[in-house]
Amino acid sequence: MKQVHPSCMPSILERWARSARVDVRQASRMKRLLAVTGLLLWMPLLALAADKPATIVPGALWHDRQGEVINAHGAGMLKAPDGRYYWFGEHKISGKGGNAAHVGVSVYQSSDLLHWNARGIALPVSKDPDSDIADGAIIERPKVLHNAATGKYVMWFHLERAGHGYKDARVGVAVADAPAGPYRYLRSFQPNGQQSRDMTLFQDDGGIAYLFYSSERNATMHVTRLTDDYLGTEQDYQRLFVDQWLEAPAIFKHAGRYYFMGSECTGWKPNTAHGAAATSPMGPWTEFGNPAQGDDAALTFHSQSAYVLPMPGQPGRFIYMGDRWNPENAIDGRYVWLPLQLEGDGFRVDWHASWSLDEAQKTHVPSR
Ligand code: GAL
Repeated sequence: MKQVHPSCMPSILERWARSARVDVRQASRMKRLLAVTGLLLWMPLLALAADKPATIVPGALWHDRQGEVINAHGAGMLKAPDGRYYWFGEHKISGKGGNAAHVGVSVYQSSDLLHWNARGIALPVSKDPDSDIADGAIIERPKVLHNAATGKYVMWFHLERAGHGYKDARVGVAVADAPAGPYRYLRSFQPNGQQSRDMTLFQDDGGIAYLFYSSERNATMHVTRLTDDYLGTEQDYQRLFVDQWLEAPAIFKHAGRYYFMGSECTGWKPNTAHGAAATSPMGPWTEFGNPAQGDDAALTFHSQSAYVLPMPGQPGRFIYMGDRWNPENAIDGRYVWLPLQLEGDGFRVDWHASWSLDEAQKTHVPSR
């Protein structure tokens, strides 16, 4: 029997027209009419969906475009030259042991900071048990910068080798040719021979980059410049917040002023945030107290700072990105993102059960 391609088969409507002896041309007009009416009926719904402000719900489960819960803790954000955002973070697994690195550093990609595509593991743990980044190592707070001069993407993270607890107190460095990787692990070391645990990178206008790291048993924060290729540190460093026991540093800049947000030192437990401002990343830094305001501010809304990102298209507004850790079931740590507003000589962060970047735009009143 001759095979009939499905596209050659008469449509249901045409077959009905034939059986009902309706003119085929009339039937196809009816078909067009139905199609247009269908579209008209759907249009308000489509418009509603497009208009619906996608909301950020701090502390809620956050799924990627593939439908999986985003697994990128201790976040580092990169706005790459391709205009897209890359979210790097600690990939955690379930249970208490899930805080150590068993998979590596994950990376997600987005154009709007709301819808994220999983791009896999940017830096996998090594299969070599002697590697610094072997399964069971501690790889925390990964941060990535793009070096415009070398064209490379450089990742820094807090590193403790497997089985060493938190005794190594080192930074690890890895490099890639593309923002999502794959990253090639280079080495680990103590910057200027000093302990380095919680850390972050900050890239200033003009490309000078800095490493901020909790040092001296976490009692004192240090800051040092990265070398021009971002693969190492310069020799000079400054001691900041001496004996203040601050960690979880996040640095941002507006109108020539630098801002610091960090936490106190209570492990996975939330505590009070600290804010500071300076006219140079190397200091001196002036503390202004707790930037979190309102209920639960003393515990930073049950979160700890990981990153502060400029809010797209809104100069002077930022997004506080924190972690709500779950040490007993590491994979279930949540993300607390909130709008951050400059105020006076400092800045503030207020709780919102849910908020949207659009809404933040509408209510934005520049403070300076
Ligand atoms: C926190 C730190 C986390 C992690 C944790 C381990 O203070 O900010 O990144 O190192 O301690 O207890």
